[in-house]
Amino acid sequence: MSVQTAAPETGRARRTAVIRCRDGDHTIALTEREPVAERLIAISRKRSFDPNVDVDWDAPQDPDVFYMPPQLVSLYETPLWDRMTHRQRVELSKREVAEIASFGIWAELLLMNILLKTAYRFRYDSQHTAYALTEVADECRHSMMFGRMVRAFGLRTRRPIPIAYHLGKIAAGAPYLPLQMFAGTLVVEEFTDSLQRVSMADEEIQPLVRQVSRIHVIEEARHIKYAREELKRAVAASSTARRRFAAMGVARFTSWIPRLVIHPSAYAAVGLDPKEAQRVAAASPHRRAVWAWSMRRCTRFFDEVGLLDGPARRIWRRAGLLPDEPPQIF
Ligand SMILES: [Fe+2]
Ligand SMILES: [Fe+2]
Repeated sequence: MSVQTAAPETGRARRTAVIRCRDGDHTIALTEREPVAERLIAISRKRSFDPNVDVDWDAPQDPDVFYMPPQLVSLYETPLWDRMTHRQRVELSKREVAEIASFGIWAELLLMNILLKTAYRFRYDSQHTAYALTEVADECRHSMMFGRMVRAFGLRTRRPIPIAYHLGKIAAGAPYLPLQMFAGTLVVEEFTDSLQRVSMADEEIQPLVRQVSRIHVIEEARHIKYAREELKRAVAASSTARRRFAAMGVARFTSWIPRLVIHPSAYAAVGLDPKEAQRVAAASPHRRAVWAWSMRRCTRFFDEVGLLDGPARRIWRRAGLLPDEPPQIF
């Protein structure tokens, strides 16, 4: 990797970094921290929500209305789905939204920890620190919003499976590793964003879920920008070996996500055999396509910045998250 500063005709200095990958050199544009953070703070001032007043928590929940588009439910287009009644399918969509929200809270708690570690390391009066703290405040509201949504469903949130729960505790106490941290953050933010964008736009699904999704999508857009810019800087600052090592760790973490998000108890709750349902979902070509589709923006960006380079690429491929053809779901 090499970093160059060029002064193009515009007169504005612009830095680029060349990332050496097996498929050739990738040149990425680097931005300055302070102006980016200043812009994101200005956006945050204009477009922030208070879910306590901006969500109609008492909106009636019609028992026949899906909680997310059925195409996103894990068993869609499987023989099990064909045997389910409409009410069972709706109930499963509700349970799966609650599962995704629970996973989201777990991920946001870890992300807040990353943002605080970032703020700790920069000048406390800098825009960069101010933005990191603004994002912590956003995530605080999101996690409370997701928790309240699950309760409004008449359900409870769930901790991730024990291994993920305990690894999360170790990650929270781990040293500051911006490459791994912002890459992991982007994976989670990009796939949840894909799911929520279609949910917020679909007039056929529960209004409560649409409102929560809309708030999250609007506020996450700036989080994604921040994580992408930090990730580019981290890639530019690391050696090829360190980047490939980090990319492998992130690929492993990502390959677990499809199994991590939906707990088998969601299937049991709608009267299905949890083991069988889990097996059917894992083998479903549609489900695999949904996962690849939800990660598509993330994989495109990771490819650009050299995070699909080396053995990481094989892990993404084996997990079905990097297909040859771009998956079409919507
Ligand atoms: Fe969030
Ligand atoms: Fe976020």
